[in-house]
Amino acid sequence: MDQSLSRKDFIMYSAGASAALLLNTLNLHADEQQIGNIRVAIIGCGSVSNRYIPHLQTSSKVEIVALCDIKYQRALDQKKQYNLTAATYKHIDEMLAGVPFDMMVTITDMQAHGELNKKALQAGKHVWSEKPMANTYAEGKALLELADSKHLKLWGAPAVVNSPQFAFMNKMIQEGKLGRVASAHGQYGHTGPTWSAFFYEKGGGSMPDLGVYNIATLTALLGPAKSIMAMTSIVNPSREIDERGTVKVEAEDNAHLLLDHGKGIISHVMCGFNYFDPHGHEAKGQQLHSIQIFGDKANMRLIGYDWETYGVYVDDAWDQPATLHEPETGGYQWQEGATKVAESIIDHTIPKINVQHALHVLEIIESARKSSAEGKKIYLTSSFKWPLF
Ligand SMILES: NC(=O)c1ccc[n+]([C@@H]2O[C@H](COP(=O)([O-])OP(=O)(O)OC[C@H]3O[C@@H](n4cnc5c(N)ncnc54)[C@H](O)[C@@H]3O)[C@@H](O)[C@H]2O)c1
Repeated sequence: MDQSLSRKDFIMYSAGASAALLLNTLNLHADEQQIGNIRVAIIGCGSVSNRYIPHLQTSSKVEIVALCDIKYQRALDQKKQYNLTAATYKHIDEMLAGVPFDMMVTITDMQAHGELNKKALQAGKHVWSEKPMANTYAEGKALLELADSKHLKLWGAPAVVNSPQFAFMNKMIQEGKLGRVASAHGQYGHTGPTWSAFFYEKGGGSMPDLGVYNIATLTALLGPAKSIMAMTSIVNPSREIDERGTVKVEAEDNAHLLLDHGKGIISHVMCGFNYFDPHGHEAKGQQLHSIQIFGDKANMRLIGYDWETYGVYVDDAWDQPATLHEPETGGYQWQEGATKVAESIIDHTIPKINVQHALHVLEIIESARKSSAEGKKIYLTSSFKWPLF
């Protein structure tokens, strides 16, 4: 932990008013904040915490000070497994009243995110949330208003815009290398998680779990969507879940979305929990061109998934083979979002991940369900500053 000046000492050593102003700018909220690092509390100690905790531990600017899970043993187990000195809790209210911290990382069941994020913001904490940040667009928008009113930061996964492959594709489009962009396709599926029922319950589904990555990538590359038409379905009416048995599937496990990005550009996303894929949930070695973008001068095909990619093929000549670009990760990892935004608070930088973009993706997911249920096109109300960078 950084041993630099504590908040109290800092105020003593600085001229009162200007120090207070600077501290406001720093957006540090807890009394004992050490200037130079950020104290993180994690809520949800399940599967994905095994990716988040080690990544957060790689940052010298981040200190994990609290772990919480309603299955309390999981908080204890993760503390031991990752050799943390963190306090452990079985309820968010206990955690918010416990050791001071600055940012909550929400990695619980999807359906609980909105309520937990709200409690954290009300208690003066910045929030990084796994997707979705809320159950509805309206709930997400209210969270952002709450965060803004309290000068707090709120962000939502995924972190796909951080990859060098995304940066390359973004540059190609912005520089006009594809010519007039017309169409794009994204896809993500596997045979579905077996470890928790929430993926299949109301508020879960393949769109907020899987399609969310492609929707984030395609809207970030092609611009905010103006309208959407979709068809969703439930292919498997029941699922076998570990340590639980048979559960009824209530959320879509199959979805096709058509997005109108304006200027004639249309993209398509398909996602589902019934896609046989020998590369499985981890998608190791996946070579599928999961994102394809077509213009009248060139096309680009992303190798693997947008959250973990192995490069981009570009075809821009009639008589030459496709060229491979950005085959390296450049240090990018899909689980880096919380670490990067935490560091941005300390460094006073603006991360690439943008909450308005995450909210737009949330509105698309909700609207896709409406479009499918009502059999009509839905016009979207949200937008974000585009291009992102
Ligand atoms: N598992 C992955 O590989 C993965 C990858 C990317 C994103 N995600 C996202 O991460 C989130 C969690 O997924 P997971 O696979 O880790 O699920 P999981 O079921 O393995 O873990 C969720 C944990 O949250 C706890 N929890 C639920 N409600 C809680 C509450 N109110 N307070 C405290 N703890 C609570 C559960 O007890 C459980 O331990 C989801 O949003 C999922 O979409 C998961």
